Amino acid sequence: MTPSTTVSVLGGTGHSGRRVVRRLRDRGVPVRVGSRSADPAFHWERSDTWAPLLDGADAAYVAYTPDLALPGAEKTMARLGEAARRHGLRRLVLLSGRGEPRAARSEEALRSAGVPVAVLRSSWFAQDFSEHFLLGPVLAGEVALPTADVPEPFLDLEDLADVAVEMLCRPQPAEVTLELTGPRSLTFAEAAAELSRVMGRSVITVSVTPEDFVAGAVAAGVPPEEAAALADLFVEVLDGRNTSVTADVERVLGRPATDFADFARRAAATGVWEPARLSDPAGA
Ligand SMILES: NC(=O)c1ccc[n+]([C@@H]2O[C@H](COP(=O)([O-])OP(=O)(O)OC[C@H]3O[C@@H](n4cnc5c(N)ncnc54)[C@H](OP(=O)(O)O)[C@@H]3O)[C@@H](O)[C@H]2O)c1
Repeated sequence: MTPSTTVSVLGGTGHSGRRVVRRLRDRGVPVRVGSRSADPAFHWERSDTWAPLLDGADAAYVAYTPDLALPGAEKTMARLGEAARRHGLRRLVLLSGRGEPRAARSEEALRSAGVPVAVLRSSWFAQDFSEHFLLGPVLAGEVALPTADVPEPFLDLEDLADVAVEMLCRPQPAEVTLELTGPRSLTFAEAAAELSRVMGRSVITVSVTPEDFVAGAVAAGVPPEEAAALADLFVEVLDGRNTSVTADVERVLGRPATDFADFARRAAATGVWEPARLSDPAGA
């Protein structure tokens, strides 16, 4: 891809999207950011807002919210694939989850119009502990989860963004499904122990019912629909099916994926888990 080509980043202000935007801009690639707060505003629910993002663009990174496994996502992805074909996009890179049959249907829906799609099926993000729904619980010292303590190979979002940009910028589009994981599977209790080490104070995990998990997440500011989806995901996919580690990050980037301990050290150095943040985790 030459610097004169344009990439749209749908979900471009989110956890993965803003990292993709930064990397593309660093490479001199013209970027359009898709989000409700962008100008012009982009809404997943309103396909009439999509044209300014797609018209004249060559490629798009797609981080769909709230989740590809939720009702309505398959239809929206089919519509997006069709719109991308109509507007002449030559490739799409889709963020997805591992081991989610309903998300796989949304992936196929996006592919159905024929634009090549690189699907990035990702493990749970390490940054869920530092930027997302687990930040508040980590600051409070107790992470309550509706699951047995099943190992998960947490993926560093910096690795995900590096892979996404590589798939957006390499000379030929790839019709491929990658499984992106960190280099090591940790139980949530082991992840909490890593965090305790770098924070210098205790973080523990406890088991709760899905209902209590949803109530806690909503109280912490997660939208109810997303909290319910998270609880479903915990129950459905954290059953051991996603514990295996893959080499796909290293295969694409030519370097190993980042270990959770390195992520934890780096995040701690930013001050994100300082006790002062406890009163305002969202501002962290
Ligand atoms: N968290 C994990 O561990 C994990 C792991 C694997 C896969 N995933 C998948 O990652 C995806 C989310 O990606 P992410 O974490 O990078 O995004 P995110 O941080 O949740 O950000 C959402 C982005 O989408 C925009 N947005 C939200 N609602 C929108 C709407 N109705 N219409 C248009 N734009 C909207 C937001 O901006 P505005 O608010 O300005 O609209 C923002 O740019 C989900 O599909 C999830 O299943 C997550």
